[in-house]
Amino acid sequence: MKLPIFTALLVFSVSSATAFAADTAQGKKLIDENCYTCHGNDVYTRENRMIQNRPGLAKQVQRCELAQGLQWFDEDVENVAEYLNQQFYHFK
Ligand code: HEC
Repeated sequence: MKLPIFTALLVFSVSSATAFAADTAQGKKLIDENCYTCHGNDVYTRENRMIQNRPGLAKQVQRCELAQGLQWFDEDVENVAEYLNQQFYHFK
């Protein structure tokens, strides 16, 4: 009866491997589907934008997502934050 343990380990290692690299294509899709009702991309590039660092970006993504009544997983928040970072914010 070693098989279930092996399967559990396999599933665990696959899911933790994918948690490392953010999926920015999925992030873009989530934004396209959910994030244009209150503001467009202009808030990310305006002169006095609020967000000043990478952790703050993820927090704001989550705030906006929750404000809209969505229930994203942490991975979704992270994928969206990473997409926005690559496209607009360019935090290190
Ligand atoms: C319920 C309305 C609403 C929705 C929907 C919404 N936002 Fe926002 N968002 C806001 C408001 C309000 C601000 C603050 C804008 C301001 O200060 O003028 C903001 C600001 C932001 C900022 C910070 C911009 C800056 O100044 O740097 C980010 C990032 C952001 N939103 C991401 C998102 C993402 C990602 C989504 C999709 C999940 C989303 N928003 C959907 C209302 C919304």
